[in-house]
Amino acid sequence: MEKGKFIVIEGIDGSGVTTEAVKLKEYVATKLNLPVHLTKEPTDGPVGGLIRTILAKRVGAPSHNGKFESIDPRCLALLFAADRLDHLEVDILPKLEGGVVVICDRYILSSLAYQSLNVDRRWLEQINAKAITPDLTIYLQVPPLVAERRRNQARWHVELYEETPKLQKVAENYVEAIDELRRRGQRVEIVDGNRPMREVQRDIIAAVKPILTTRAGSGRKRPKPPAGEPRLNMVFPSDNQSEEKEALAP
Ligand code: TMP
Repeated sequence: MEKGKFIVIEGIDGSGVTTEAVKLKEYVATKLNLPVHLTKEPTDGPVGGLIRTILAKRVGAPSHNGKFESIDPRCLALLFAADRLDHLEVDILPKLEGGVVVICDRYILSSLAYQSLNVDRRWLEQINAKAITPDLTIYLQVPPLVAERRRNQARWHVELYEETPKLQKVAENYVEAIDELRRRGQRVEIVDGNRPMREVQRDIIAAVKPILTTRAGSGRKRPKPPAGEPRLNMVFPSDNQSEEKEALAP
């Protein structure tokens, strides 16, 4: 059985990552007719639960000057890496092995962009070295002030990283980390998330579709033309978009 593809969606808080991940899942399930699983980090597992209480500023420790502070940034980075390995073991890898497309709302790139506010990026890469590389990462690029407006509309509490000056730096870290990952051959697409939803979704689908509809990626059997016949242009019914034709190589 072909392995499933692993797709990650990333962006600063308020960029629309969760909304777009849900929409993409719907598209993969209903238009591409593929088995698909949506998941997120931090997870709902034991380490993810601890991370969430830290992000909500409900866990901390008295510092040397007696002030109550959040936990050491290196410890938090290790927790994110531990949560990720647990996530891979109990959820992501078994699904991929079973041929399911996995869409993950945040993954290693979040650690490289957020934890590098306080922690050396090389070390972050080392502690995440056992985590697999996604087949595709999509970064939703939204100006930090626009993201702030969206957050203010959606929530009443402010989490650890949800301050615009911090997120400005996180956005710069994303771009730097993406440059480096691309130089190493990883597939990362930047999508302008500051546009009407329909346009954003169209671009996300355009990035994802080639990965999921190659013969190896789709898991669907496609008819081979008889030997000697010219290449055909074929439309697959599940694509539901009659103008989108795919070249079928013999
Ligand atoms: P969210 O559930 O609203 O996406 O919030 C998760 C927060 O955790 C968000 O501020 C990004 C942050 N985060 C990290 O700092 N490092 C990580 O590795 C991950 C996965 C998330």
